[in-house]
Amino acid sequence: MGLVTAVSLADAGNEIVGIDTDQNKINDLSNGIIRMYEPKLNELFLKNKSKFTLSSDYKMINEVDLIYIIVPTPTINNKIDLGYAIDASENIQKNNKNAVIVIKSTVIPGTARMIHKKTGLVVISNPEFTKEGEAINDTIHPDRIVIGGSDKKAIDRVEKLWKFTNAPIIRTSNENAEMIKYASNAFLAAKISFINNIADLCEKIPGSDVDVVAKAMGYDKRIAPYFLKAGLGYGGSCFPKDTKAINSYANELGVHLDMIEATIKSNEARIEKVAKLAIEIARISKAKSIGILGIAFKNNTDDTRESQALKLVQKLKDNGNYNINVYDPAVKIMIKGTRQFSSKEECIKNSDIIVIATEWEEFKNIKTSKPVIDARRILDPMLSNVFSIGFGKAKDNEQKTKWFQ
Ligand code: UDX
Repeated sequence: MGLVTAVSLADAGNEIVGIDTDQNKINDLSNGIIRMYEPKLNELFLKNKSKFTLSSDYKMINEVDLIYIIVPTPTINNKIDLGYAIDASENIQKNNKNAVIVIKSTVIPGTARMIHKKTGLVVISNPEFTKEGEAINDTIHPDRIVIGGSDKKAIDRVEKLWKFTNAPIIRTSNENAEMIKYASNAFLAAKISFINNIADLCEKIPGSDVDVVAKAMGYDKRIAPYFLKAGLGYGGSCFPKDTKAINSYANELGVHLDMIEATIKSNEARIEKVAKLAIEIARISKAKSIGILGIAFKNNTDDTRESQALKLVQKLKDNGNYNINVYDPAVKIMIKGTRQFSSKEECIKNSDIIVIATEWEEFKNIKTSKPVIDARRILDPMLSNVFSIGFGKAKDNEQKTKWFQ
C-alpha cells in the first residue's frame, strides 16, 4: 500500500521520500526491483523512479511537509496492534518537528488523536479503499477521498494532493475517517458472508443458482452488484483482521456488533464446509489425492495472507488421508506437506479430485473429467463432473450428479 500510494502520487507530479525500516526492501527498490505481484505497479514505479529518494534512515524526512504512515496494523489475539504506527510516529517526531502526519493505515477510532497527543504534531486521517490486484487503479480513480482532522490548513494540503483524482472529497473528524474505513470493510465482508449464506440454501434447492440470484439482486441500485460473489469466503490482509479488530474494539466499549460477529463466524465456516465436501467426494470416488487450484487469497495477486485457499489446504492436510497437490499461477512460497506443481495441467493430471480455491482467470478453461469442486464459481455449473458452490442441480440432471448423492 505504501509503494502503491507513493507511486501514484509520484505519477501525479510529487517528489517522494520513501522510508522503510527493512534495508533489503530499500536496496531492491533502489535497484528497480519489486518483489511482489501487483499489476501496473512495476511499470509505473520505473517510470517515476527519478522522483524517489529511498532510505531506511528517518533523517531523510527532516524537510518533508506531509508524512504518510502506511505500516501494518495487524490483529493479534483479535485486537489491533498499533506498535508499528506508534513507532513510525515517534521516529517522525524525532526527525521533523513541523511535519503533518497523515495516517493511511487502518487504525481504530481514537488512534490519530492518541498519536497527536504523543507527538504534538498535526495528525490527519486519510484511509485507503484499495483492492489488491487493482491497487493502482483504485488509488488513481477512487470512489471517494476521506480526509479527517481538525487543522484546516493541513486538510487543505491533503485535499490538494488528491485533487488530481477528481473524486468526491469528504472532510470530517479523525474519528469519522477512522470509522468510515472499518464500517466500509465490515459492510463489504458482510455482503460476502450474506451471499454465502444464500449459496448454502440454493445448493439445497434444485433449479436454484446463487449467481443468478446475486446478479438480479445487484440490479437494485440500493443493493449494487459488487461483493456478491459466493465462494470460499473472504481472505486477505484487510477483511479478516479489520472485522476482528472493530469487533473487539466495540466489545471494549460495551457494544455487541452481532452482524459483524456473524460475518466472521460464517466466513470461518466456509473452510470447514468445502473441506467436508472435498472429503466426501474423495471418499465416494475412492480418491487418494486432492488437487487445490489457487493458493492466493484472490486472483491477480501472490498474496497468501489469511488466504481461505491456504486454510483449506491446511484443513485437508490435517485430515491426513489424502495427498495434497497444489498449483497457483503467482504464489511462489513453499507449502509443507504438499506437492507443488508449476502448471494446472500437471496438478490436475496428478490429482484424483480437484478443488478450485482461488478465482484465477486461467482456471476457467480447465479440461478434466475428474470430479471438481468449484468453490469460486468460475466453471459452467451444468458440467456433469462439477459441483458448484451455491448451485442446486435440477432433477433432470440427476444422472449427472452422481458425485454428490
Ligand atoms: C479489501 C477492500 O476491498 C479494500 O477496499 C480495502 O482497502 C482492503 O480490503 P482486498 O483485500 O485487496 O481489498 O481484496 P477484495 O477484492 O476486497 O477481496 C477480499 C476477499 O473477498 C478475497 O478473498 C475475495 O476472494 C473475497 N471476495 C470478494 C468474495 O468472496 N466475493 C466477492 O464478491 C468479493
